[in-house]
Amino acid sequence: MCGIFAYYGPKTNAGKILVQGLKSLEYRGYDSWGIACKNDSDIAIYKRTGKIGDITSLPKEICGQTTIAIGHSRWATHGGVTRENAHPHSTEDNEVVLIHNGIFENYLEVKKQLIKREHKFKSETDTEVIAHLIQENLDKEGLEESVRKAILKIEGRYAIVVICKKENKIIAARRGSPLIVGVGKNKEFYIASDIPAFLKYTNKVMYLDNNQMVVLSDAKAKFYELTNKKEIKKRIVEITWNPESAEKGEYSHFMIKEIMEQKETLYRVLNQDDKIIKRAAGMINKAVGTYFIGCGTAGKVCLTGEYIFSEIAHKHINSTFGSEFPAHHHFITNKTLIVGVSQSGETADTLEAIEIAKEKKAKVLSIVNVETSSMAQMSNMVVPTKCGPEKAVASTKVTTAQLGVITLLAYACAGRLNDGKTLLLETAGKINDMLNPRYEEHISKLAQKLQNFESMYIIGRGSNYPMALESAIKLQEVSYIHAEGFAGGELKHGPIALIQKGTPCIVLCANDENKKAILSNAMEVKARGGYIIGVSPINEDVFDYWIRVPDVSTASPIVNIIPVQILAYKLALLRKNNPDMPRNLAKSVTVK
Ligand code: G6P
Repeated sequence: MCGIFAYYGPKTNAGKILVQGLKSLEYRGYDSWGIACKNDSDIAIYKRTGKIGDITSLPKEICGQTTIAIGHSRWATHGGVTRENAHPHSTEDNEVVLIHNGIFENYLEVKKQLIKREHKFKSETDTEVIAHLIQENLDKEGLEESVRKAILKIEGRYAIVVICKKENKIIAARRGSPLIVGVGKNKEFYIASDIPAFLKYTNKVMYLDNNQMVVLSDAKAKFYELTNKKEIKKRIVEITWNPESAEKGEYSHFMIKEIMEQKETLYRVLNQDDKIIKRAAGMINKAVGTYFIGCGTAGKVCLTGEYIFSEIAHKHINSTFGSEFPAHHHFITNKTLIVGVSQSGETADTLEAIEIAKEKKAKVLSIVNVETSSMAQMSNMVVPTKCGPEKAVASTKVTTAQLGVITLLAYACAGRLNDGKTLLLETAGKINDMLNPRYEEHISKLAQKLQNFESMYIIGRGSNYPMALESAIKLQEVSYIHAEGFAGGELKHGPIALIQKGTPCIVLCANDENKKAILSNAMEVKARGGYIIGVSPINEDVFDYWIRVPDVSTASPIVNIIPVQILAYKLALLRKNNPDMPRNLAKSVTVK
């Protein structure tokens, strides 16, 4: 979590560039923010709590003549949301100033030693400790070497960017958390947690890998290995995202823009080279034991994958959350295949699970949206979801693209890739027809009915059971209404006690072998006073409110989640929540 953005170059309005760029990184954290600008012999720091402010309200030393600047948008880990705890952090005299994304796990130990050596701290953060560590060697060894030595003492995942008063340079380093160097015109460089921060200025990038540092000085970017200071030559890569794809365009929020982009994202999944899908399916067929691993929404997609593979490929897949995987590692061997599923490819728990599996020599396949992410780099093979940037915290278009990829893989494993492609092509066309203004309006009406409820429930069976869980996540994330998903058959074992007169219950009903059973479960809820919202190709008697979805057989999880995404969005608006930046959450969770 946390967004990092830094500028080094000839432009003299670095402060303004940072504030604008940081706005596109707010999805990574938006508790508080700050920037530091280097002038000839001083560093000015500006920090605020809340969302990123307006450029016109910035003080002169931040907006003025600055060619070196660093900025940060925070998602709090160590220390509450206060101006003191916001980044950048610095030593007492602002000699060393830095921004940080990640967690410095052994910071308390190091802080105690520094306090004994009379260092004084202003915040409760782990980040400030790094600034002091760097300062200890600064006079003797210069900035580069002091940063390198300090970093070697840090345990945990991090990305840091450092400046100091005495040297006209920026140093950045990473292990675990992402950092990308943008290469602009006229010897200017950008360093950011994600590409949209600088996409307006350049689409040329160089990737900083784990355990590497980059030094921007004398109008050059030089890369080194952290452990032995060996210089590394980097390739400049041109990325194909266009700046508009990272902007809201005609939409009021990224969430609805990304929901509507599902009119075309399945087509993009289908446009993959067949060879990629066949090779990935070959890895699954060859493996002795396959684990699908993801977190949050991606975790629910992994669970859906178990059902899809069972049904289509008659294959047993295990799935678990990244954070739970460490308890399963005893089963992993060099014949196991780990399939990491992630939008960002930077989720710390999923990355750690992959690291554990790699230590046991397991093979890794990843299904990622950010093809240049840490997860992609750690994998033996990557199947991209090709959705372009997804910026709303609540995942929508990437969720259905991940389901699309998994469906194709299952068909390919069964030797029926063409059947899978035909099904997805048909599904993509039907989603295109479904996402029209009348459909949105019908769901808006439902949102008006539901907006004041305190709880709602979602039920599904088979591959729609994980989609009931995912529906609950969508509703919780942006509407803040208590929502829970259950397997239809489990209702009678406890959850049905929660149903009262009028309690909303969404029933995800596919036209498949589970239909009769899920409709019986809906009847059980209705008999206890529940208000039944059916998401189904057919309007059944038991439904009080019907949301039509196309009949697409085994692709039903893909179409059934879409109306719930729209409902969550509409509820967020009615309840005056910002759907793109829900409270307490962040898009990319780079801490454990
Ligand atoms: C966060 C996001 C979710 C996402 C999850 C996993 O919780 O808010 O939308 O599903 O992280 O992220 P990943 O990038 O690994 O898919």
